[in-house]
Amino acid sequence: MSPQNQRISFRIRFLISFARCSRSSLAIKALHLKEFAYPSRLDRPILKTINLSIEAGKTTALVGPSGSGKSTIIAMLQRFYDPTGGSLLLGGSKTDLKSAPLVWWRKQIGFVGQEPVLFKGTIAENIRYGNPDASQGEIEAAARKAFAHDFIMEKTRDKYETEVGERGGSMSGGQKQRIAIARALVRNPKLLLLDEATSALDNESEHEVQMAIDTIIEKESMTCVVIAHRLNTVKSADMIVVFEEGILLEQGNHDSLVAQGGLYAQLAGHKSSGAKRAAAAATDAAEEGED
Ligand SMILES: Nc1ncnc2c1ncn2[C@@H]1O[C@H](COP(=O)(O)OP(=O)(O)O)[C@@H](O)[C@H]1O
Ligand SMILES: [Mg+2]
Repeated sequence: MSPQNQRISFRIRFLISFARCSRSSLAIKALHLKEFAYPSRLDRPILKTINLSIEAGKTTALVGPSGSGKSTIIAMLQRFYDPTGGSLLLGGSKTDLKSAPLVWWRKQIGFVGQEPVLFKGTIAENIRYGNPDASQGEIEAAARKAFAHDFIMEKTRDKYETEVGERGGSMSGGQKQRIAIARALVRNPKLLLLDEATSALDNESEHEVQMAIDTIIEKESMTCVVIAHRLNTVKSADMIVVFEEGILLEQGNHDSLVAQGGLYAQLAGHKSSGAKRAAAAATDAAEEGED
C-alpha cells in the first residue's frame, strides 16, 4: 500500500450504531469502519471518513454521483464484504457484526436491486423464494404491499400460479420488479435495502414501482436504506446522506441540505456547479488540516 493510501486508510472511520432492534425495525446506530477496499483492489480504498447512523423505522437515503460508493455500503450492510479496516458494530452493546451469525443477519434484511431476477416458475414460487415458510396468505399480503396483487389477479391467466417464464420473460419490467419487492417483503425484513430499484424501468413502470416503494416507506415500520437514481424520490427521507468519491460529504434532511448549499443542493438543482467546487475545496482543506 502506498504511503498516501496508508494515510487515507488511517483516517478512515465509519460509525453506524445499531440503536435498538425492535420487532419490526432495526436501527444501525454505530458501525466503525476504518476503511473499505475491494479484495481485488486492496490498494484502492473505496470508502473513506464516514460517520453514519441509521435510525430504526426511519428511511435513510444514500445519494451521490455514480461510483461514489453507495452500493458498496449496501453490500457491506448485507455482509457481502467486511471492512478491510475497522469493524461494523451492532447495537448498543457494540457487538461486531462479524460475530453475529450470518444466516440470522441476512434474515433481517430484504434487498431489491436494479434488475429484478425472477426464476422459471410461478409468481407464487418467485415470491416464496424470499421466505420458503411463507403461507399463501403471507405471499398475497406481501404482493399487496408491493402493489402486485391487483395485476396478478386481473392481468395474468393463472393468477399466483402463472408461470413467469425464463427469467420472468412473460412479465413486464415493472411487474417483475413488483414481484421482486414482494419477495423482499415476504421475509418481513427489519431492514429493507433498495438499490436504484426503479432505474432500469421505463417511465410508466417506474411510476408504478415508485408508488409501491413510497407506500411501503410511509406505512411500514421497517428501517429502510434507499439509493435512488432520481433525487426527487428521496426528498421525504428522514435522513439523506450524500457521498462523493467514497467520502461522506453531507447529511441531513432535504430542507437542511438545500439550505447548506453544497453538493446535494447542486444535484437537486438548487445550486450552481460552483457549490460542488466549494464543497470539494472544503473537503480538501479539511484533509490538509488533518495531515
Ligand atoms: N466488486 C468490485 N470490485 C472492485 N471495485 C468495485 C467493485 N464494485 C464497485 N467497485 C468500485 O467501487 C467504487 C464505488 O462503486 P459503487 O459502490 O458501486 O458506487 P455507486 O453505487 O455509488 O455508483 C467504484 O469506483 C467502483 O468501480
Ligand atoms: Mg450503485
